[in-house]
Amino acid sequence: MILKLANGKEIPVEMHKARMVQKVELVPAEERLQAISQAGYNTFQLKTKDIFLDMLTDSGVNAMSDNQFAAFIKTDDAYAGSMTFYEFADAVKDILGYEHVLNVHQGRAAEHLLSKIFSKPGGAIITNYHFTTTKGHIELTGGSACLELYADEALKTKSIHPFKGNMDIQRLKDAIKKWGREKIGYVRMEATTNLLGGQPFSMANLKEVRRICDEHGLLLVIDGSLISENGYFIWKREKGYENTTIGAIVKEICGLADIFYMSGRKNTCVRGGFIATNKKELIEPIEPWLPFYEGFYTYGGMSMREIGAMAVGLREMVDPSVAGCAIEQIKYFVEKLDEIGIPVVTPPGGLACHIDARKFVSHIPKEQYIAGALTAALYIASGVRAMERGTISTDRDKEGKEVYADLELARIALPRRVYTVSHIEYIIARLQWLYKNRQLVKGLKFVSEPPVLRFFLGKLDALDNWGRRLADAFKKDFGPAW
Ligand code: F0G
Repeated sequence: MILKLANGKEIPVEMHKARMVQKVELVPAEERLQAISQAGYNTFQLKTKDIFLDMLTDSGVNAMSDNQFAAFIKTDDAYAGSMTFYEFADAVKDILGYEHVLNVHQGRAAEHLLSKIFSKPGGAIITNYHFTTTKGHIELTGGSACLELYADEALKTKSIHPFKGNMDIQRLKDAIKKWGREKIGYVRMEATTNLLGGQPFSMANLKEVRRICDEHGLLLVIDGSLISENGYFIWKREKGYENTTIGAIVKEICGLADIFYMSGRKNTCVRGGFIATNKKELIEPIEPWLPFYEGFYTYGGMSMREIGAMAVGLREMVDPSVAGCAIEQIKYFVEKLDEIGIPVVTPPGGLACHIDARKFVSHIPKEQYIAGALTAALYIASGVRAMERGTISTDRDKEGKEVYADLELARIALPRRVYTVSHIEYIIARLQWLYKNRQLVKGLKFVSEPPVLRFFLGKLDALDNWGRRLADAFKKDFGPAW
């Protein structure tokens, strides 16, 4: 929640108290240099013992509430027919308004099933923007092209547009005309577009997309992995919604979709996911495959305790202090960086503070993995683990040619209810130091490169040994202990 202080300054204040904590260490710069070198300059390959603030992702690492932990214990363990599953199904009905639900082990499992059933090989899936695993499944499982129909504004990192996750309506009409209804599997809207910097779509845009889908008999699928954040942004930014509730907004969004799926690892629990709908005829073709890939219908690859916690998480996620917890911290983070001239994605989105690496280290050529280099440099300078969201996260094309990402972002994620404003202040100060010393940061080159989703396992090396020079400059300014 945002509270105003006597001096007029506004700060995000945590609406929870920590009752169990985990100790973290900040290892000195020399050890950080060793750790990132061994990790192949890939933050996915670091070990948590070497990490001070783990801001790789908000997935599976949010703090759970006392009531979620209570649900862990109060679980009805059964292979089939568990009452915990039916409590979860009730929460899906109450919060999202759907009658039918299938659990899956995580979001990408939902993408796998949807691509398998609804993609048309040789056809297309239309989306406001891709996510890495989504695109992978659309192309590999579904054999379809992934058409991203965002508006031009979406790729402007400095912007005041409140809804950069909107689909471009004219492009949607053109794509339907070009491909024809028969070849389009479905239209997918991602509720806050992860790779555009957690940017939301507006309700007005979603309604327009719905109208066009109806006109052409197309299915509308919502990826609601960050649905409560998108709801929070509509509440804060869209005219006509200021006096409603996040719960009502989330339900309205869901009411516009034929199929809804989400990763449960962000908004609702530490693990899991599900597919939901009100249309029996859409769940029926998926059903036979669920026990095959995920598990029986009342657990779908999850443990019962996680399904129980997810039911509680679903009900909690529409509380403004939960839905807005990360968003308000991110806003504070982004606005402070913007004020001191550090290039960040604006307006602030959900999920993370995104640094515009193309502007931060503008001297690094695009072939040398700009965002990857900045992400590794931030770790050396601070012990903070962020994630590369740029060309390394974009696989090569079928001919093996590099595909340069639309945006080169270093994503500093804010897991919910985990970090505090003093942690954010620390990162701001270290980023400021790094920005002053940015000329020391050079590019990266691959040493080993897997063929798909290379950002997970790929190993790289620093060109001209720049990591050593950056660590030495840091030690000169701060001493060897930090
Ligand atoms: N859709 C979106 C919008 C996501 O952000 C994610 C995951 C998925 C689908 C896949 O879900 O991980 O449960 O299989 N995003 C994580 C991240 C991994 O770090 O942003 P999953």
